[in-house]
Amino acid sequence: MGNFSEGFWNIFIFVCTLGGIVWLYLLTANNMGSRRPADGGGEVETTRHVWDEDLTELNNPLPRWWVMLFYATLVFGVVYLMLYPGFGSNSMFLGWTQVKEYEEEMARAEARYGPIFEQYAALPIEQVAADPKALRIGERLFASYCAVCHGSDAGGVPGFPNLRDDSWQWGGEPEQIRTSILAGRTAVMPGWRDALGGDAGVDDTLAYVRSLSGRSADAGKAAAGKERYDVVCVACHGADGAGNSALGAPSLADDVWLYGGSDADVRHSIAEGREGRMPAHGEFLGEARVHVLAAWVWSLSNH
Ligand code: HEC
Ligand code: HEC
Repeated sequence: MGNFSEGFWNIFIFVCTLGGIVWLYLLTANNMGSRRPADGGGEVETTRHVWDEDLTELNNPLPRWWVMLFYATLVFGVVYLMLYPGFGSNSMFLGWTQVKEYEEEMARAEARYGPIFEQYAALPIEQVAADPKALRIGERLFASYCAVCHGSDAGGVPGFPNLRDDSWQWGGEPEQIRTSILAGRTAVMPGWRDALGGDAGVDDTLAYVRSLSGRSADAGKAAAGKERYDVVCVACHGADGAGNSALGAPSLADDVWLYGGSDADVRHSIAEGREGRMPAHGEFLGEARVHVLAAWVWSLSNH
């Protein structure tokens, strides 16, 4: 069905639509013609259906005014289908398509709001964040395009980061936030069960990760876990667990957890891995809007 609007299906729809209209016309025309009583008021034909012994069904022609009205609707239908793409996807006379209408609407919006965004795009993000009007626009854009994932207050939910706090996976500098929105981010953390020598190794590493964020942990397990951590995890999460914003590796030393901080959640992260994806919005929203959005997001943790 990839080429639904082309080739076979297009012709199929065209034939069905036109065929339906012709059929309706023939049906009505037939009734008007052949069963009209002979001039001079001959016998009215019956359908030979009889009910209750003497109730016969007559076969009178349809009233002429009704038939004319019906033809008028057929003509209207054909004209309409030629103006708008009703015969398959052939947009006949007006050249109207949904896509074109959408694009025209977008062009009108761009002409109206474009200059406002361009004006902000020329300023540094910190400066845009100081303009209350820009922040209101940013908040509205966020509600439309980002709130589905990050929550209406940008507070996040498991798997979708909180953007209000000071903890950043990919960096909290204005330009880093802008890049996250513009180009998207793909985090890759494979599962480490095998590399850690199975579930016992995962448990030891979990104990060490607990201790990194200042939580209680079995000292023996944590020590064994540290040895594994220093081999397997250190390259991305750093020696002290501070993370690495270039890789999107979050800090394990704070108590902020993207995927939940319970032992079960963290064990799952370590053993099975996580692959969070922030979609790119640059092409869709344009750089200027992303600039204003970045300013709003940055302002949340930098009043
Ligand atoms: C190749 C780099 C890399 C290595 C090596 C790596 N990680 Fe990760 N880790 C990441 C990235 C990137 C994420 C973020 C995943 C996401 O956002 O979906 C992450 C996420 C996590 C999380 C989830 C944090 C949260 O906030 O929910 C935990 C826990 C974790 N890693 C622990 C470890 C441990 C323990 C090891 C070693 C066994 C390890 N990681 C090795 C890159 C790495
Ligand atoms: C389809 C869901 C989705 C949508 C829509 C979405 N995001 Fe994200 N975003 C994510 C996920 C998931 C991550 C975390 C990726 C990872 O694991 O590293 C993220 C990460 C981010 C980050 C980086 C956070 C950090 O700690 O470094 C920023 C900034 C961000 N999003 C802003 C936005 C803005 C602004 C919008 C609206 C234009 C938006 N996002 C729309 C899912 C989404």
